Amino acid sequence: MVIEAGAREKLSFAVIDAIAHKHNVELGAIIPVLQEIQEAYGYVPPVAIQRVAENTGVPASELFGIVTFYAQFRLQPLGKNLIKVCHGTACHLSGAERISQTIEQVVGAKEGETSQDGLFTVERVACLGCCSLAPCIMVNGKVHGRLTPEAIGKLVSQVKEKEKVVLSGEVG
Ligand code: FES
Repeated sequence: MVIEAGAREKLSFAVIDAIAHKHNVELGAIIPVLQEIQEAYGYVPPVAIQRVAENTGVPASELFGIVTFYAQFRLQPLGKNLIKVCHGTACHLSGAERISQTIEQVVGAKEGETSQDGLFTVERVACLGCCSLAPCIMVNGKVHGRLTPEAIGKLVSQVKEKEKVVLSGEVG
């Protein structure tokens, strides 16, 4: 079940209940329930966890434990732009930590977080499959390699500029 982007903020208990009932929770299918909720909303809202707990009898603490244990789940909505920072061996040896710190400074979010303005979510990944270009990041599905802190600053400024253009287009 995928909910239209514009309607994603509006949580519907009916949607959550339908997802919870569709899976046979007694047979241990709680992960598919959480996956489908994330698919619908882009993250697993804490209020949805509470609702699933009431519906299924699985304690909310257990559900929170699952969501925080598995890297695939998010408890916060995604920002408009997704930055994946590679920490695989080649990128690690080529200064991935420095890249991470620079990204944190320029977008205002650490790995695993979304910036206050909602523009960026930063995620940590193991390998982007472009090791010869290390250090690498992926921005909205596009890989950028042989990065320097200066290049990151430029890249983020370009994304911010694009967002401004989109916003002014929406207003006008
Ligand atoms: S280790 Fe970074 S792309 Fe492979």
